[in-house]
Amino acid sequence: MDNVIIKTKGIKRAFDTPAGKFWALKGIDAEIPEGKFVILRGRSGSGKTTYMNIINSLDDPTEGDVFIDGVNLKDLSEKERENLRRTKMGFVFQSVSLIPSLNAFQNVEFSMRMAGMKINKDTARRVEECLKLVGLGNRMNHMSAEMSGGEQQRVAIARALAHKPSIIFADEPTAELDSAMAARVTEIFKEMTRKEGITVLMTTHDVGLMGAADMMIELDNGERINAGE
Ligand SMILES: Nc1ncnc2c1ncn2[C@@H]1O[C@H](COP(=O)(O)OP(=O)(O)OP(=O)(O)O)[C@@H](O)[C@H]1O
Ligand SMILES: [Mg+2]
Repeated sequence: MDNVIIKTKGIKRAFDTPAGKFWALKGIDAEIPEGKFVILRGRSGSGKTTYMNIINSLDDPTEGDVFIDGVNLKDLSEKERENLRRTKMGFVFQSVSLIPSLNAFQNVEFSMRMAGMKINKDTARRVEECLKLVGLGNRMNHMSAEMSGGEQQRVAIARALAHKPSIIFADEPTAELDSAMAARVTEIFKEMTRKEGITVLMTTHDVGLMGAADMMIELDNGERINAGE
Protein backbone atom coordinates (compact mmCIF):
# COMPACT_ATOMS: atom_id res chain seq x y z
CA MET A 1 0.00 0.00 0.00
CA ASP A 2 1.34 3.41 -0.96
CA ASN A 3 2.07 5.95 1.73
CA VAL A 4 -0.98 8.16 2.31
CA ILE A 5 0.29 11.74 2.17
CA ILE A 6 -3.07 13.53 2.54
CA LYS A 7 -5.97 12.24 4.56
CA THR A 8 -9.15 14.13 5.37
CA LYS A 9 -11.85 12.94 7.74
CA GLY A 10 -15.31 14.43 7.92
CA ILE A 11 -14.32 17.87 6.63
CA LYS A 12 -17.11 20.38 7.02
CA ARG A 13 -16.95 24.10 6.41
CA ALA A 14 -19.71 26.56 7.26
CA PHE A 15 -19.75 30.22 6.25
CA ASP A 16 -21.91 32.77 8.02
CA THR A 17 -24.12 34.52 5.51
CA PRO A 18 -26.96 37.02 5.94
CA ALA A 19 -29.34 34.10 5.31
CA GLY A 20 -27.70 32.03 8.07
CA LYS A 21 -25.09 29.30 8.05
CA PHE A 22 -24.09 27.99 4.64
CA TRP A 23 -22.38 24.60 4.59
CA ALA A 24 -19.91 24.73 1.69
CA LEU A 25 -18.47 21.31 2.65
CA LYS A 26 -20.61 18.66 4.28
CA GLY A 27 -18.18 15.97 5.43
CA ILE A 28 -15.44 15.08 2.97
CA ASP A 29 -13.30 11.96 3.45
CA ALA A 30 -10.34 11.22 1.22
CA GLU A 31 -7.04 9.38 1.26
CA ILE A 32 -4.48 10.47 -1.29
CA PRO A 33 -1.44 8.26 -1.85
CA GLU A 34 1.96 9.91 -2.27
CA GLY A 35 3.20 10.64 -5.77
CA LYS A 36 -0.15 10.67 -7.52
CA PHE A 37 -1.70 13.18 -9.88
CA VAL A 38 -5.10 13.91 -8.38
CA ILE A 39 -7.85 15.94 -10.02
CA LEU A 40 -10.44 17.65 -7.85
CA ARG A 41 -13.48 18.23 -10.02
CA GLY A 42 -16.98 19.55 -9.66
CA ARG A 43 -19.27 22.34 -10.81
CA SER A 44 -18.61 25.96 -9.95
CA GLY A 45 -19.52 26.45 -6.29
CA SER A 46 -19.23 22.74 -5.44
CA GLY A 47 -16.53 23.45 -2.83
CA LYS A 48 -13.23 22.69 -4.62
CA THR A 49 -11.31 25.80 -3.61
CA THR A 50 -12.70 25.68 -0.08
CA TYR A 51 -11.58 22.06 0.29
CA MET A 52 -8.14 22.67 -1.23
CA ASN A 53 -7.46 25.62 1.08
CA ILE A 54 -8.36 23.51 4.11
CA ILE A 55 -5.93 20.79 3.05
CA ASN A 56 -3.11 23.28 2.52
CA SER A 57 -3.87 24.86 5.91
CA LEU A 58 -4.70 28.33 4.61
CA ASP A 59 -8.18 27.85 6.10
CA ASP A 60 -9.56 25.79 8.99
CA PRO A 61 -12.46 23.36 8.78
CA THR A 62 -15.51 23.96 10.96
CA GLU A 63 -15.38 20.25 11.75
CA GLY A 64 -13.11 17.37 10.77
CA ASP A 65 -9.41 16.63 10.52
CA VAL A 66 -6.66 16.93 7.93
CA PHE A 67 -3.57 14.76 8.20
CA ILE A 68 -0.48 15.58 6.17
CA ASP A 69 1.99 12.71 6.27
CA GLY A 70 0.13 11.42 9.33
CA VAL A 71 0.32 14.71 11.23
CA ASN A 72 -2.98 16.30 12.24
CA LEU A 73 -2.87 19.98 11.21
CA LYS A 74 -4.73 20.78 14.45
CA ASP A 75 -1.64 19.72 16.41
CA LEU A 76 0.55 22.34 14.71
CA SER A 77 1.05 25.94 15.77
CA GLU A 78 0.44 28.69 13.21
CA LYS A 79 4.22 29.03 12.85
CA GLU A 80 4.61 25.31 12.20
CA ARG A 81 1.81 25.42 9.64
CA GLU A 82 3.47 28.35 7.90
CA ASN A 83 6.71 26.43 7.82
CA LEU A 84 4.91 23.40 6.35
CA ARG A 85 3.42 25.57 3.60
CA ARG A 86 6.75 27.23 2.82
CA THR A 87 8.89 24.09 2.66
CA LYS A 88 6.63 21.12 1.90
CA MET A 89 4.05 22.74 -0.36
CA GLY A 90 4.06 24.51 -3.70
CA PHE A 91 1.26 26.62 -5.16
CA VAL A 92 0.09 27.36 -8.69
CA PHE A 93 -2.84 29.69 -9.27
CA GLN A 94 -5.21 30.47 -12.11
CA SER A 95 -3.72 33.90 -12.73
CA VAL A 96 0.01 33.78 -12.96
CA SER A 97 1.77 36.21 -10.66
CA LEU A 98 5.37 36.35 -11.79
CA ILE A 99 7.50 39.25 -10.62
CA PRO A 100 7.65 41.45 -13.75
CA SER A 101 11.06 42.94 -13.05
CA LEU A 102 12.70 39.48 -12.89
CA ASN A 103 13.35 37.06 -15.73
CA ALA A 104 12.19 33.44 -15.72
CA PHE A 105 15.34 32.14 -14.03
CA GLN A 106 15.22 34.82 -11.34
CA ASN A 107 11.51 34.25 -10.67
CA VAL A 108 12.15 30.59 -9.95
CA GLU A 109 15.27 31.33 -7.90
CA PHE A 110 13.37 33.86 -5.83
CA SER A 111 10.90 31.19 -4.71
CA MET A 112 13.79 29.05 -3.43
CA ARG A 113 15.01 32.01 -1.41
CA MET A 114 11.49 32.35 0.02
CA ALA A 115 11.57 28.68 1.02
CA GLY A 116 14.65 29.49 3.08
CA MET A 117 17.25 27.93 0.76
CA LYS A 118 20.70 29.38 0.39
CA ILE A 119 21.32 30.40 -3.21
CA ASN A 120 24.40 28.75 -4.73
CA LYS A 121 25.52 26.62 -7.70
CA ASP A 122 23.25 23.76 -6.66
CA THR A 123 20.17 25.96 -6.54
CA ALA A 124 21.11 27.43 -9.94
CA ARG A 125 21.30 23.90 -11.35
CA ARG A 126 17.91 23.14 -9.81
CA VAL A 127 16.37 26.26 -11.39
CA GLU A 128 17.64 25.12 -14.80
CA GLU A 129 16.40 21.59 -14.22
CA CYS A 130 12.89 22.84 -13.34
CA LEU A 131 12.70 25.22 -16.29
CA LYS A 132 13.81 22.40 -18.59
CA LEU A 133 11.18 20.10 -17.09
CA VAL A 134 8.47 22.56 -18.09
CA GLY A 135 10.00 22.94 -21.56
CA LEU A 136 11.49 26.41 -21.07
CA GLY A 137 15.19 25.63 -21.14
CA ASN A 138 15.50 28.19 -23.93
CA ARG A 139 13.50 30.95 -22.18
CA MET A 140 15.45 31.33 -18.96
CA ASN A 141 16.45 34.95 -19.55
CA HIS A 142 13.06 36.12 -20.81
CA MET A 143 11.12 38.65 -18.78
CA SER A 144 7.51 37.68 -18.05
CA ALA A 145 6.15 40.39 -20.37
CA GLU A 146 8.04 38.69 -23.21
CA MET A 147 6.34 35.33 -22.64
CA SER A 148 2.95 33.93 -23.66
CA GLY A 149 0.32 33.06 -21.04
CA GLY A 150 1.17 29.36 -21.35
CA GLU A 151 4.89 30.04 -20.97
CA GLN A 152 4.25 32.20 -17.91
CA GLN A 153 2.12 29.49 -16.34
CA ARG A 154 4.94 27.00 -16.96
CA VAL A 155 7.40 29.34 -15.21
CA ALA A 156 4.91 29.43 -12.32
CA ILE A 157 4.96 25.63 -12.24
CA ALA A 158 8.77 25.57 -12.24
CA ARG A 159 8.62 28.07 -9.39
CA ALA A 160 6.24 25.87 -7.37
CA LEU A 161 8.53 22.90 -7.93
CA ALA A 162 12.00 24.31 -7.35
CA HIS A 163 12.22 23.88 -3.58
CA LYS A 164 11.21 20.19 -3.92
CA PRO A 165 7.87 20.31 -2.14
CA SER A 166 6.00 17.10 -1.30
CA ILE A 167 2.67 18.44 -2.54
CA ILE A 168 1.72 20.94 -5.23
CA PHE A 169 -1.69 22.60 -5.05
CA ALA A 170 -2.95 23.97 -8.35
CA ASP A 171 -6.33 25.72 -8.36
CA GLU A 172 -7.63 25.98 -11.95
CA PRO A 173 -4.14 26.40 -13.40
CA THR A 174 -5.34 25.80 -16.95
CA ALA A 175 -8.43 28.03 -16.92
CA GLU A 176 -6.77 30.84 -18.86
CA LEU A 177 -4.97 28.61 -21.37
CA ASP A 178 -6.07 27.26 -24.74
CA SER A 179 -6.86 23.56 -24.84
CA ALA A 180 -3.52 22.48 -26.32
CA MET A 181 -1.58 24.38 -23.65
CA ALA A 182 -3.95 23.14 -20.92
CA ALA A 183 -3.19 19.56 -21.99
CA ARG A 184 0.56 20.31 -22.02
CA VAL A 185 0.45 21.82 -18.53
CA THR A 186 -1.51 18.82 -17.25
CA GLU A 187 1.08 16.52 -18.80
CA ILE A 188 3.85 18.44 -17.01
CA PHE A 189 2.10 17.94 -13.67
CA LYS A 190 1.87 14.24 -14.36
CA GLU A 191 5.55 14.10 -15.31
CA MET A 192 6.41 15.78 -12.00
CA THR A 193 4.69 13.00 -10.08
CA ARG A 194 6.65 10.42 -12.06
CA LYS A 195 10.06 12.11 -12.08
CA GLU A 196 10.06 13.76 -8.66
CA GLY A 197 7.53 11.75 -6.63
CA ILE A 198 5.56 14.91 -5.94
CA THR A 199 1.85 14.64 -5.19
CA VAL A 200 -0.23 17.06 -7.26
CA LEU A 201 -3.74 18.16 -6.39
CA MET A 202 -5.30 20.13 -9.24
CA THR A 203 -8.81 21.52 -9.61
CA THR A 204 -10.41 21.82 -13.01
CA HIS A 205 -13.77 21.92 -14.79
CA ASP A 206 -12.22 20.74 -18.04
CA VAL A 207 -13.45 17.21 -18.77
CA GLY A 208 -10.84 16.91 -21.52
CA LEU A 209 -8.10 16.79 -18.87
CA MET A 210 -9.64 14.16 -16.59
CA GLY A 211 -8.02 11.23 -18.41
CA ALA A 212 -4.58 12.22 -17.13
CA ALA A 213 -5.53 11.76 -13.46
CA ASP A 214 -4.36 8.83 -11.34
CA MET A 215 -7.22 9.60 -9.00
CA MET A 216 -10.30 11.79 -9.10
CA ILE A 217 -12.15 13.44 -6.25
CA GLU A 218 -15.51 14.74 -7.38
CA LEU A 219 -17.50 17.21 -5.32
CA ASP A 220 -21.12 18.22 -5.77
CA ASN A 221 -22.82 20.72 -3.54
CA GLY A 222 -20.24 20.22 -0.77
CA GLU A 223 -20.36 16.42 -0.88
CA ARG A 224 -18.04 13.86 -2.40
CA ILE A 225 -19.89 11.93 -5.05
CA ASN A 226 -17.26 9.43 -6.08
CA ALA A 227 -15.49 7.33 -3.54
CA GLY A 228 -13.11 5.50 -5.84
CA GLU A 229 -10.26 6.34 -8.19
N1 LIG B 1 -15.99 33.33 2.45
C1 LIG B 1 -17.16 32.81 2.03
N2 LIG B 1 -18.33 33.25 2.56
C2 LIG B 1 -19.52 32.73 2.16
N3 LIG B 1 -19.62 31.76 1.23
C3 LIG B 1 -18.49 31.28 0.68
C4 LIG B 1 -17.20 31.80 1.04
N4 LIG B 1 -16.27 31.13 0.31
C5 LIG B 1 -16.94 30.27 -0.46
N5 LIG B 1 -18.27 30.35 -0.26
C6 LIG B 1 -19.32 29.56 -0.92
O1 LIG B 1 -18.99 28.19 -0.79
C7 LIG B 1 -19.30 27.49 -1.99
C8 LIG B 1 -18.07 26.77 -2.50
O2 LIG B 1 -17.14 27.74 -3.00
P1 LIG B 1 -15.77 27.34 -3.67
O3 LIG B 1 -15.05 28.59 -3.96
O4 LIG B 1 -15.10 26.33 -2.82
O5 LIG B 1 -16.30 26.63 -5.00
P2 LIG B 1 -15.46 26.06 -6.24
O6 LIG B 1 -15.91 24.64 -6.43
O7 LIG B 1 -14.02 26.32 -6.05
O8 LIG B 1 -16.05 26.92 -7.45
P3 LIG B 1 -15.30 27.49 -8.80
O9 LIG B 1 -15.23 26.31 -9.73
O10 LIG B 1 -16.25 28.53 -9.29
O11 LIG B 1 -13.97 28.01 -8.42
C9 LIG B 1 -19.88 28.50 -2.95
O12 LIG B 1 -21.28 28.44 -2.91
C10 LIG B 1 -19.38 29.84 -2.40
O13 LIG B 1 -20.27 30.86 -2.70
MG1 LIG C 1 -12.61 27.50 -7.07
